[in-house]
Amino acid sequence: MDQVGQYNRNAWDHAHHTSLRQWTEPVSTDEVNEARDGIIKIKLTPHKHVPQAWFPELRGKKVLCLAAGGGQQGPLLAAAGAEVTVLDNSPRQLAQDAFVAQRDRLTINTELGDIRDLSRFSDQSFDVVLSLGAGHVEDLNTVWQQIGRITKKNGTLLSGFTNPFEYIFDLKAWNEDKLVVRHTIPYADIHDLTADERQELIVDKGEPFFFSNSLEDQIQGQIAAGFVIVGFYEDHGGGPLDPYINTCFATRAVKVSLP
Ligand SMILES: C[S@@+](CC[C@H](N)C(=O)[O-])C[C@H]1O[C@@H](n2cnc3c(N)ncnc32)[C@H](O)[C@@H]1O
Repeated sequence: MDQVGQYNRNAWDHAHHTSLRQWTEPVSTDEVNEARDGIIKIKLTPHKHVPQAWFPELRGKKVLCLAAGGGQQGPLLAAAGAEVTVLDNSPRQLAQDAFVAQRDRLTINTELGDIRDLSRFSDQSFDVVLSLGAGHVEDLNTVWQQIGRITKKNGTLLSGFTNPFEYIFDLKAWNEDKLVVRHTIPYADIHDLTADERQELIVDKGEPFFFSNSLEDQIQGQIAAGFVIVGFYEDHGGGPLDPYINTCFATRAVKVSLP
């Protein structure tokens, strides 16, 4: 594995001690029971739930949750009757899915892996793919191409993103609730911060490394991989831009052509 993958694995294994804790806390048995009754409250962005209308029939369907460990989306989709695989780079995040599965008698296949290499999955093997790890990948287009290969025709792709413009701001100022324009997009913590800034603002805080991607990578990348976008919503990102604009968004896409 490359250095970013190794570093981010360790960061996510310890993310329950950081500002990212929200993404490491498993769902409750009550939420699982609601999903068993067909009310699936999963998030692709920090606050809003995915509209129920975005889910195709899930019973007996093969669902792949990418970079989605943490005991959240996978267990609820399994409770709704899907055959779920969760692939994540963090053993601790996957352990949260295994914990919920055992607690609530669900079957979930957890796989330790990197969304940048989906070669373990065969062509057109999933009815639904949920993708959450875009912000940890520098070359997002290769991930979309692989998702396009493994998604069945007419299959669904549900994805969550941070709008790249969040990354034009100086990170230290951002953390102090100030907006200081500094960076160009595409931005990457590993390329655009000085070594001292990386140490202080990322490593010392135990945060993972992020990549902004571009809107073109996030949207056109899906289209180029054979998907059409059929749904979209925005959500608060949780930073100093919240009073002005939503910085997170989700897309629903359907696979229309084979790559
Ligand atoms: C924001 S969390 C998303 C999971 C969470 N269940 C949620 O509700 O959104 C991001 C996840 O991506 C995983 N991740 C980061 N880089 C990855 C990569 N290259 N391949 C696979 N998973 C990755 C992390 O381990 C972490 O569990």
